[in-house]
Amino acid sequence: MARASDDFPVLTTERMRLRLVEPRDATGLHACFGDPQAMRFWDFPPCGTMAQTVRIMRWLARTTSPHDHLGWAVADKRRDRCFGMVCYHHREPRNKRLEIGYIIAPAHQGRGMGTEAVRAVLDYCTGTLGAHRVHALIHPENHRSMQLVERLGFHCEGGPLTDYWRVGDSYRSAMLYAFVAPTGAAGPAGTLQAASYKHHHGRARKAGRARQ
Ligand SMILES: CC(C)(COP(=O)(O)OP(=O)(O)OC[C@H]1O[C@@H](n2cnc3c(N)ncnc32)[C@H](O)[C@@H]1OP(=O)(O)O)[C@@H](O)C(=O)NCCC(=O)NCCS
Repeated sequence: MARASDDFPVLTTERMRLRLVEPRDATGLHACFGDPQAMRFWDFPPCGTMAQTVRIMRWLARTTSPHDHLGWAVADKRRDRCFGMVCYHHREPRNKRLEIGYIIAPAHQGRGMGTEAVRAVLDYCTGTLGAHRVHALIHPENHRSMQLVERLGFHCEGGPLTDYWRVGDSYRSAMLYAFVAPTGAAGPAGTLQAASYKHHHGRARKAGRARQ
């Protein structure tokens, strides 16, 4: 599962290490994707079995090039134990646009971990990837998630987008939040240190910024 680990853009923050999803993260990620409460606003139903979580982990660990999506395991810096996930997906290079997703295991919520981890990925997306717009589609009742993105400078641009996600046998609506990078800016003020940008091809490295 942990292919291309040498080239993966590891992000470090004050308290966390965001790295490639590895098989040993199954327990930590099942505490997220298997928890009905944490998943009540998500765009697919909670994983009833570890095998279902592992299937998601495979998607998260797939490092395609150029990247349509990229997923990071959120781990504590000291012990490198995974307790969450942040990803980007639906990247549209032509429009310099992508969408982010994030989840923190319930036992670790309420300590600012979500904000710190998402800030690092936002920083990476706007800085290294050069994304101009970063979207977060958030269930209208997911107030914690709305507070999180507003803290990082996102604004609500519309919604509810009615029945946006099909989840099991029903549909869920979503509010559209967007972070728009100031033109010419390298990214939002963050604490990011990326350990590796190698996967962004020689051409992009030469330009100092990955092409979208
Ligand atoms: C949304 C979610 C990621 C937020 O995770 P989190 O780690 O609790 O997020 P935050 O960073 O926003 O935590 C902020 C809280 O921690 C508190 N906090 C404690 N120590 C802190 C610190 N050092 N720094 C910042 N905040 C701190 C804040 O006061 C705040 O509490 P409050 O909301 O009661 O005021 C989490 O609730 C989750 O995983 N939900 C389920 C999945 C989901 O819905 N994902 C979003 C899909 S759109």
